[in-house]
Amino acid sequence: MKPHTLRLLYSSAEIDARVRAIAEEINMRYAGEPLVVICVLKGAFMFFSDLLKYITVKPEIDFVRLASYGGGIESSRAISFTKDVEISLQGKHILLVEDVVDSGITMSFMLQQMQARQVASIALATLVDKQERREACVSIDFSGFTLSDGFIVGYGLDYAEKYRELPAIYVVDL
Ligand code: IMP
Ligand code: MG
Repeated sequence: MKPHTLRLLYSSAEIDARVRAIAEEINMRYAGEPLVVICVLKGAFMFFSDLLKYITVKPEIDFVRLASYGGGIESSRAISFTKDVEISLQGKHILLVEDVVDSGITMSFMLQQMQARQVASIALATLVDKQERREACVSIDFSGFTLSDGFIVGYGLDYAEKYRELPAIYVVDL
């Protein structure tokens, strides 16, 4: 790891306010519907668990983990599952919970995979949307924050597997 410092970007109070607001939107959208909320490991684990505490629609939950290989340039990366869901998704509404949508390559793969599984609908919640960096087209249904640049850590997000445990989000200054 290169020498670096952390600079506070979103406090835990700011994050909590956004998480509550997203949960309210989700509660309205899915009232009375069979919902499966899927956490994209590892980065989304804290957002996912906080979000679920405010969700009142009695969802099922599951987890996936994705790996990306190769590609000197970002857009040539290949994505695969290293852990898939374990419950049946057929006929249910699916809500994917991700930490950051950056190039969009990971989530466009994930959305395609889920669409092939005869689900009732599929939606995406991301804590942070790096909209300006998009290479693959991804539609985001629920978003916490929009960020134009910078590498961030904390609240589940890592820099070389460090800082995931922090309750706030920081920019890494190199
Ligand atoms: P994408 O396929 O380029 O959209 O990459 C998204 C993935 O890259 C996310 O799931 C994150 O795990 C990771 N990522 C992107 N930006 C950041 C960041 O600023 N901090 C930590 N992880 C990030
Ligand atoms: Mg991630």
